[in-house]
Amino acid sequence: MAPTSPRKILVTSALPYANAPLHLGHMLEQVQTDIWVRFQKSRGHDCLYVCADDAHGTAIMLAAEKQGITPEQHIATIHANHLRDSERFGIDFANFHSTHSEENRYWSEEIYRRLKSNGHIASRAITQAFDPEKKLFLADRFIKGTCPHCKTPDQYGDNCEACGATYTPAELIDPVSAISGATPVEKDSIHFFFRLPEFESMLRQWLDSDTLQPQVANKLREWTEAGLQEWDISRDAPYFGFEIPGEPGKYFYVWLDAPIGYIASFQNYCARTGHPFEAYWQPGSDTELYHFIGKDIINFHGLFWPAMLHSAGLRTPTAVFAHGFLTVNGTKMSKSRGTFINADTYLEHLDAEYLRYYFAAKLSAAVDDIDLNLEDFVQRVNSDVVGKIVNIASRCAGFLAKGFGNRLSPECAEPRLLEEFIASGDAIASLYEQREFNKAMREVVALADRANQYIDEKKPWLLAKDESCSAEVHAVCSVGVNLFRVLMTYLKPVLPAMAGKAESFLNCRLDWTELQAALLDHQLGTFEPLLTRIDSKQVAAMVEASKQASPTPAPVAPVAPAAKPDMDNTIAFEDFAKVDLRIAEIVAAELVDGADKLLRLTLSLGDSEKQVLAGIRSAYQPADLVGKLTVMVANLAPRKMRFGVSEGMVLAAGPGGKDLFLLEPHAGARAGMQVK
Ligand code: 2FM
Ligand code: ZN
Repeated sequence: MAPTSPRKILVTSALPYANAPLHLGHMLEQVQTDIWVRFQKSRGHDCLYVCADDAHGTAIMLAAEKQGITPEQHIATIHANHLRDSERFGIDFANFHSTHSEENRYWSEEIYRRLKSNGHIASRAITQAFDPEKKLFLADRFIKGTCPHCKTPDQYGDNCEACGATYTPAELIDPVSAISGATPVEKDSIHFFFRLPEFESMLRQWLDSDTLQPQVANKLREWTEAGLQEWDISRDAPYFGFEIPGEPGKYFYVWLDAPIGYIASFQNYCARTGHPFEAYWQPGSDTELYHFIGKDIINFHGLFWPAMLHSAGLRTPTAVFAHGFLTVNGTKMSKSRGTFINADTYLEHLDAEYLRYYFAAKLSAAVDDIDLNLEDFVQRVNSDVVGKIVNIASRCAGFLAKGFGNRLSPECAEPRLLEEFIASGDAIASLYEQREFNKAMREVVALADRANQYIDEKKPWLLAKDESCSAEVHAVCSVGVNLFRVLMTYLKPVLPAMAGKAESFLNCRLDWTELQAALLDHQLGTFEPLLTRIDSKQVAAMVEASKQASPTPAPVAPVAPAAKPDMDNTIAFEDFAKVDLRIAEIVAAELVDGADKLLRLTLSLGDSEKQVLAGIRSAYQPADLVGKLTVMVANLAPRKMRFGVSEGMVLAAGPGGKDLFLLEPHAGARAGMQVK
């Protein structure tokens, strides 16, 4: 039974970056949040789920620039795309806003002012890598170079994808700006810092207050004990974000205004609907605030955010719920394996309800990773949802339609069985409340087994052959439908679309608080198929499509040109088609003074020559190369490097060192030929 006084609950999930389409990792979090929110609503609480796009930062600025559009145009396209995909997954947002909004500007400035007037903002000069061509400071991931440990070229400034080493950009060999190719220089600038160490005792109390899951609190305690550091909350122009009040050319770092986006989205909702706003943010408020997040962002939500809220005189969250990562078939999602699955690619092939159920069947309150095993997915959904739950209704509906005008019997033939089903509701509700969805699903499926067992024992299909058993057929099928109604009520937070169809069939709302009254002498609607079995071919087609999927979000409103997301190293076909691959003859090769990795190659394309600085010295002596044919990218914009200009790139493969093999075309190839 729902308590008499409804709780006032505000729930958020992490704001997705406005630089790429949503993928199934995002959907894991949104589905988890949505199930919990729908559950709270079904118990009669006033529960609102707000989210937004995280629209600021250098990556978004550069993505827009690359497409020749403004960041505002770019984020508008992505916003429409994200909202559409979330809605198609049944995510019931009260509001899906943007951090690039007036509400967010207001709150970012306001919170900053409060922190500053409390003495919690420091400023000092720091030295950073600077791109002298693009005239911007480079975050580590915008610097590339050769790994100082394994010498693999083209590695990011903070870690090596080949050997896994972590390092600082200053340690990279031959570092270049990933944006312009220029060699970075060091430059000073003033930055603003949030004085996190001032909050040490507040944060210790917060970490001991059971607000966080034990694993999360322990991890954060380790960091706290290692000594809290001041947090750099500013970035220099050019930057897509909000300028810091009174500090021209300085912008709030995207992670400063991202969580404030929760407040902004809620305020936008309140302004639209007249819902009270202030009460939710006062310390000691009787409202509840929950953040669902991934385990990779616990420092922002478990340390910086509560400290900022505290300093700004706002309430801290009631709890932060972190979940693990999504793996597919046991490993990290991978584009080449077709397991980096975008939300819209999934939806082109499969019903959202399947995945909602599968996630629910695997999710718990722990921070463990969740594996989407595609075979298990097909088997589990077909067996539990279609084979067990839907089966109860479909086995009874035909007899009720044919013999009884879709009207249920006036009495319940199995009151004790029905009562057991209803009595299980409290335990199931408590599992939902604790986010132990996997256990809740197990309870529901165990009940479904009981219902099917009851129907199996009564065998209405045999009774229906004997006219004198008509009343019994009616009674058994009416019990079956009542049991189905209870189960669908428990499943409604997980399977909202299927529950909607069940409501049409049952001709009543599925409401947790209404379960006590059985459906007796009740007119049913027409039974329509609720959910069909998954065919493995649909899954195979989705995997295949994911290998091909463009990383560009499908335009919903304005049509956007192709963009390359940062989180995925794929390129659109149109981008690939721009690459002019040619056979080239190496007509000269020489060492480069001062560069122990490079060779200067003179490449003949038949009618023209190009100079290329190639990082292949570890594998080849210059003399061995002269006269060889190779493949080159002939239309690469010339790049100024420390040792001269390079006018293209030769293609080579291998782990590096001596094992680096130039691609050498076979006889028949001639310099200048296009590679198809
Ligand atoms: O990690 C991310 O994808 C961030 N965009 C999450 C932001 S959550 C919140 F703080 F806004
Ligand atoms: Zn390495």
